[in-house]
Amino acid sequence: MKNVGFIGYRGMVGSVLMERLRLENDFLDFKSHFFSTSKQGQEAPELCQNQEKLLLNAFDLSSLSDMDILVSCQGGAYTNKVYSDLKARGFNGYFIDAASSLRMNEEAHICLDPLNGDLLQQAIDKGSKTFVGGNCTVSLMLMALHGLFKEGLIDWVTSMTYQAASGAGARNMQELLMQMRQVGERAHTLMADNSNGILDVDKSVTDLMLSEEFIKDQFKVPLACSLIPWIDEKMKNGQSREEWKAMAEANKILGNIGPKRQIPIDGTCVRIGALRCHSQAFTIKLNKSVDIKTIIELIGNANAWVRTIPNVKGLTTTDLTPTKVSGTLSIPVGRIRKMNIGNNFVNGFSVGDQLLWGAAEPLRMMLNLVLRHM
Ligand code: HSE
Repeated sequence: MKNVGFIGYRGMVGSVLMERLRLENDFLDFKSHFFSTSKQGQEAPELCQNQEKLLLNAFDLSSLSDMDILVSCQGGAYTNKVYSDLKARGFNGYFIDAASSLRMNEEAHICLDPLNGDLLQQAIDKGSKTFVGGNCTVSLMLMALHGLFKEGLIDWVTSMTYQAASGAGARNMQELLMQMRQVGERAHTLMADNSNGILDVDKSVTDLMLSEEFIKDQFKVPLACSLIPWIDEKMKNGQSREEWKAMAEANKILGNIGPKRQIPIDGTCVRIGALRCHSQAFTIKLNKSVDIKTIIELIGNANAWVRTIPNVKGLTTTDLTPTKVSGTLSIPVGRIRKMNIGNNFVNGFSVGDQLLWGAAEPLRMMLNLVLRHM
């Protein structure tokens, strides 16, 4: 039985991954070892039957090298610290990583099995050992528009994102909830007094959000009752890094590298007050005219998780929302219609759980792909 080492299994993405592995009975197929950056030697939590009892040291290159496969959800700083030393000492196992650090390295492949399972299989056959989960909005966009990418119909696409707090980390999610509480408490007090009109409440809440008193250690600015139109650092061309990733990573996932045409993808990434689902509005320029019925069929039949939502108000407002999709693998795509700007322009909107398809699930599938090969 192969030995699989998990690093960062207790964090947000790691916990979701553990839950998915448990639900799909994947733990039965290998022996699990859990690595910790601070608690080595202590008893490991009981996550599956066939596991090492004690926690191992996540910085001990020798224990890490004993593994056939390492799966890390520990983050980029950990990968940067450990990966090259591990390789330098001859680690020849598989390294499956949730962090972005290695994504654009030549030896690394970005895994999104439903989209590029065949390319991943070829990479394994050729001896590649490093596989990295893609950026959440990129993976969710590809899952949603899989049918159009598969048919080679996309000339270019813009994606305007509405990204949940979870994408920024667990502490940010907590901060959003604390901000909501502060706003809620202020509003509650004011509204208890009937002499306060809604504009009085609005002014007081806005003053609170702009005050030093408002909790914003993580986001640095209010997110509750507001939004933040910038995610990650600035690139030289004026994009944010999150926006830059869309084109770079999507084309790498699709195998559009070297002389192959890169599909232009660009947009504005925005943080909103959702908890764990990222949403995106698409403008898609097709390279030929396709009727809307065919477009809907292509999108809806592309993979087992995507489903189209009829472009009507009722179903859109109930089913095409972060609240509905949260905690599920479903990728609903709706608002699909031809746009007034031209016959080849298609509008769409999609929602997906960034902790599942945006992070944990591609890693789980990659682990299974690797295990099947061994
Ligand atoms: N960069 C993403 C976000 C996280 O900030 O929402 C998932 O890759």
